[in-house]
Amino acid sequence: MTQKLFEPITLRGVTARNRIWIPPMCQYSVLKHDGVATDWHMVHLGGLARGGAGVVIVEATGVTPEGRISPKDLGLWNDEQRDALAPIVSFMHSMGAKAAIQLAHAGRKGGVWPEWGPWGTDRHGSLAPEDGGWETVAPSAIAFPGLAVPRALDQAGIDGVVAAFRAAARRAIEAGFDMVEVHGAHGYLLHEFLSPLSNQRTDSYGGSLENRARLLLEVTDAVRSEVGDAVPVLVRLSATDWTDGGLTIDDTVQFVSWLKERGVDLIDVTTGGNVIAQIPSGPGYQVPFASEIRHRTGVPTAAVGMINEPFQAEQILVTGQADVVLLGRQTMRDPNFPIRAAQILRHPEPPIPPAYARAY
Ligand SMILES: Cc1cc2nc3c(=O)[nH]c(=O)nc-3n(C[C@H](O)[C@H](O)[C@H](O)COP(=O)(O)O)c2cc1C
Repeated sequence: MTQKLFEPITLRGVTARNRIWIPPMCQYSVLKHDGVATDWHMVHLGGLARGGAGVVIVEATGVTPEGRISPKDLGLWNDEQRDALAPIVSFMHSMGAKAAIQLAHAGRKGGVWPEWGPWGTDRHGSLAPEDGGWETVAPSAIAFPGLAVPRALDQAGIDGVVAAFRAAARRAIEAGFDMVEVHGAHGYLLHEFLSPLSNQRTDSYGGSLENRARLLLEVTDAVRSEVGDAVPVLVRLSATDWTDGGLTIDDTVQFVSWLKERGVDLIDVTTGGNVIAQIPSGPGYQVPFASEIRHRTGVPTAAVGMINEPFQAEQILVTGQADVVLLGRQTMRDPNFPIRAAQILRHPEPPIPPAYARAY
């Protein structure tokens, strides 16, 4: 019997072998603070592809130096960074996986200490310039709690952000990526523009829902036109700010309907991150948002967040709540999760490389 998890899915010209995908996960493993991928990225991403994932989405990758969360993030603003990613993409392809990359600008949440490093895990908050930090930018000069006050972008700055996303999308295609994801979630720059909690502009990028969505739509248009018609464009959105006065699922449904008109192929549905909020997390806690967006807009969705078991993942797809599932922390614990899921669900054709066939 074919299980839904292992049913291929086609978006535009790209067919993924199954619906177990890997969400973007920052590794903070760039050694020289130059945005260039390292051996760690090859082994980490290559291992996830070897483990049978349909699509591996590479971590949040800065479209500019100041668009990184930390100095140890990947970047894609120059050719050296592109050329370091190309062999990783090539290896992922050789394992039968498709490769996507999340293009990101961290906005007011950029320039912080990475989660881990030689200093341990006890350094938090904004980096001082002498520690390698930088001035952050945002829609308004409103700090994320505990972080530095950002500079509000002017029109030239906004145009620069759009151009940087466009150039990074071009380099992603040159590196061989099959899909591009725009990071519009978790309180980073594009989400900061979307949410009234962080956007108090009075120009055409602030105020109404339409104005707050303007930058996301301009970035999406730029990426969409750069990658060509055969390449799927995904957008990650936080469906709610989990806070009174913040974004709601109804706002998000409206954003998605505008993204649909612009040729976005799948919405990767997460939540929160723009302000400190009480989030009722638990198994599959964000799935209802993926389901609501899918049903109200007709746009395919990816569900993410504490989806950890094969039958749980299968049930999300069978009941039509999402088109694909993304498994993050579980696949860091077990990169071979897709192979194991195939075994548990008794799927006849496991996504296992020939060299490992005797393990099945
Ligand atoms: C180590 C780590 C790094 C992450 N980095 C990113 C990232 O680069 N971009 C992003 O959108 N989400 C990021 N996330 C969030 C994940 O993509 C995912 O949405 C979240 O972990 C919930 O899924 P899970 O319960 O399957 O882990 C990260 C999560 C973890 C654990």
